[in-house]
Amino acid sequence: MKTPYEIQYETFAVAGGLYDERHAKLYAEFANDLIIDGSYSIIYEGVAHACYTRITIDAAPNLKCYVVAPLAVLPEYQRQGYATRLMEKAEQELKPDVIFIMGEFHHYGKRYNTPHKIGLPVESLAPLENWFALALTEGALDNVGESTSSIAGPYAEPHIWMHPSEQV
Ligand SMILES: CC(C)(COP(=O)(O)OP(=O)(O)OC[C@H]1O[C@@H](n2cnc3c(N)ncnc32)[C@H](O)[C@@H]1OP(=O)(O)O)[C@@H](O)C(=O)NCCC(=O)NCCS
Repeated sequence: MKTPYEIQYETFAVAGGLYDERHAKLYAEFANDLIIDGSYSIIYEGVAHACYTRITIDAAPNLKCYVVAPLAVLPEYQRQGYATRLMEKAEQELKPDVIFIMGEFHHYGKRYNTPHKIGLPVESLAPLENWFALALTEGALDNVGESTSSIAGPYAEPHIWMHPSEQV
């Protein structure tokens, strides 16, 4: 059974595009740091891994919110619904009001499709078009409006919010 570190490393080392082995090491170590810090960690059927870390919407601090990262599905299992099923299982276990994820529209835009005006929890040049939300509790974000957000632990490190091209 592969560890979270191995799933993250092996996925990003061969992902190509923006990613190379330096990102693989960074995200694998990030996963380990989050796990040590107490983030929720899920391995799905031995081939997919993700961490879920608590994030607070400052204007609605009672909402139970998480941000997903890092997320990896081993190369030979991609495009077969593993990430989607991992997310469904994590959501059943965590019972969140809202989940956030930073990434590409073609990966996450379809599923994480709740309109929102919640800022990033750290200063970052990352465009807000890449900051997606999914309200699992219907209407959870309807009356929140614009808000800052807050996070603690390894995910509060600004480096991890940078564009992959600036992380290594
Ligand atoms: C991105 C990743 C996590 C998606 O996992 P997955 O198990 O392949 O995703 P799923 O099969 O559950 O697909 C979910 C949806 O994502 C989209 N999607 C996933 N991979 C895609 C790709 N390579 N190109 C375009 N759309 C993609 C599709 O819309 C898909 O829904 P559909 O099949 O109904 O059209 C996985 O491919 C991965 O680990 N990739 C390498 C690392 C990476 O690039 N991560 C992104 C940065 S966080």
